[in-house]
Amino acid sequence: FMIDCARHMFDIAELKKIINAMSLLKYNKFHWHLTDDQGWRFESEVYDKLNSVSAVRPFSNFGKKRDMSPYGRVYTKAEMKEIVDYCAERYIDVIPEFDIPGHSSALLSAYPEITCIGMPVDIKTRQGIYKDVICPAKDKTYEIITRIFDEFCGIFPYNYYHIGGDETPHNHWQTCPDCKKLMQKHGITDYADYHNFFMNRIIEYLFEKGKTCIVWNDVLKGKDLDKRAAVQYWTGNMKASLTYANNGGKLILSPFSYYYLDYEYDITPMNHTYHFNTELKGLIQSGKNNILGVETPIWTEYIEDNNRLEEMMFPRVLAVAETGWSGNSKDYKDFLERIEPVEKMLKSNGIRFMEKRRWNYSRLAMPK
Ligand code: ACM
Ligand code: ZN
Repeated sequence: FMIDCARHMFDIAELKKIINAMSLLKYNKFHWHLTDDQGWRFESEVYDKLNSVSAVRPFSNFGKKRDMSPYGRVYTKAEMKEIVDYCAERYIDVIPEFDIPGHSSALLSAYPEITCIGMPVDIKTRQGIYKDVICPAKDKTYEIITRIFDEFCGIFPYNYYHIGGDETPHNHWQTCPDCKKLMQKHGITDYADYHNFFMNRIIEYLFEKGKTCIVWNDVLKGKDLDKRAAVQYWTGNMKASLTYANNGGKLILSPFSYYYLDYEYDITPMNHTYHFNTELKGLIQSGKNNILGVETPIWTEYIEDNNRLEEMMFPRVLAVAETGWSGNSKDYKDFLERIEPVEKMLKSNGIRFMEKRRWNYSRLAMPK
């Protein structure tokens, strides 16, 4: 499971409560989304401004709600270690995510020297996809990113790291003289390929440090992604991701229309989530062997408090767990009966559930 702690953050006690509940459901990986346009959450001893500038947005304007007070801080290294240890006691590995080269306005607000334009960049206060992205052609880019990952290595022992790679507009690369020069030097003519050229350098760097990278499936728009990276499918045509697995690459399944728990129950009811079939057509046997598992992410632009976080996750995470562990041999009616005692147990652990009448609500079932 993934929790976005960049848009809104949750304190260590809340994360522990959720991690404990998830361990009871046999979740075994916690993907911790720590960086994004709207906030930076990883304490750095090398780059001070990450803690003071990148961590705090001046106000928040997500949807209908506007909050004019500054928001955010980093998790301290001690806090992050506490989470890693707490997870380890429950056989959960922590996969940290530092999202590059897009979704990086918070980083760039403190270090504009690694943008194409070299101009100040605002940390973002709304949801969106932003053109402020990292310039792959600056030496300083590699210095900053690799040093930050070196710091990650001191905190996160697991050998999988997520490096994002999603939703990266190419606009600034197209007008950047440094980017132009670098592309010419390597004979790259396509920006999606240039994106992967950049990802590959970081994948290689982390591989040398014993880490396998995970990247969102947006990268498959470009050629020549380093096959050592695992791809996480979330959106678009699945074909390229399945081909990647069939050709020997590792694949994680997170189809947004089933597994993204930030979607309301009336858009993604639990009975829909439950019926995701992991036995995918288009996979040959070797491809099947390359599926690492399923992951359910929750993005938090519109989720700012513990109660709502829990209601959006529970009980749908029970359905996701069953898709992951039981393949296609599952029965929804039977599941609904079986979750009753689990619900009771989790509630006695302080977990808040969405009220039952909303679980299976579906727009499709509404009278015209
Ligand atoms: C994503 O939802 N942008 C991975
Ligand atoms: Zn550039």
